[in-house]
Amino acid sequence: MQLTTFLPLALSALGLVNGAPLEKPANWKATAWGIDCSPGGCIYRFNITGAQTENTPAFSTHCEGTTPNATVCDLKNITAMVQPAGTPNWTVTVQHRWSIPEPEYNSLQEYWQSGSANVTETAESFTIVPASLYGVA
Ligand SMILES: *[C@@H]1O[C@H](CO)[C@@H](O)[C@H](O)[C@H]1NC(C)=O
Ligand SMILES: *[C@@H]1O[C@H](CO)[C@@H](O)[C@H](O)[C@H]1NC(C)=O
Ligand SMILES: *[C@@H]1O[C@H](CO)[C@@H](O)[C@H](O)[C@H]1NC(C)=O
Ligand SMILES: *[C@@H]1O[C@H](CO)[C@@H](O)[C@H](O)[C@H]1NC(C)=O
Ligand SMILES: *[C@@H]1O[C@H](CO)[C@@H](O)[C@H](O)[C@H]1NC(C)=O
Repeated sequence: MQLTTFLPLALSALGLVNGAPLEKPANWKATAWGIDCSPGGCIYRFNITGAQTENTPAFSTHCEGTTPNATVCDLKNITAMVQPAGTPNWTVTVQHRWSIPEPEYNSLQEYWQSGSANVTETAESFTIVPASLYGVA
């Protein structure tokens, strides 16, 4: 398990600086959700998939970590964060990052998307509606 940090979640601020929303994203589907709490903390797990769209690559991975910090999922460019939202609810935030080569500029264009959902402990699946897609040169 590897801890990491989220990119700034200030979507609108980022948009003003150097990002631009490109399209309406597809919803992400989470399955096999579960969370177990002990005095040492709460361990969550879920699988998440995102369908391919015109501008976003598809992904499918398993995420597992301890609340409340961000943790990288099996696919390293998916990051998950689960935070308490009043027992028995949790706020699950997921971020997807990827890059696309820009040969004419000899560089990589980086993109990221994130979204969150409020989930009950006993839910089995849930949907995340990711915020608009952002590209950062
Ligand atoms: C969740 O993902 C793991 C690892 O990719 C896989 O082995 C498992 O079958 C998946 N479970 C469900 C319910 O999709
Ligand atoms: C969560 O992150 C904070 C700040 O980086 C750190 O102090 C804390 O130990 C972390 N908690 C866990 C459970 O890793
Ligand atoms: C938990 O979520 C459910 C469904 O959204 C809501 O009805 C309930 O009020 C929430 N409970 C708390 C303690 O926030
Ligand atoms: C990140 O995830 C995508 C799926 O969206 C995958 O195609 C790509 O190879 C992954 N790695 C990087 C570094 O983008
Ligand atoms: C989740 O619940 C919190 C607190 O009730 C709320 O501020 C937030 O907007 C909700 N998020 C989603 C994605 O519904």
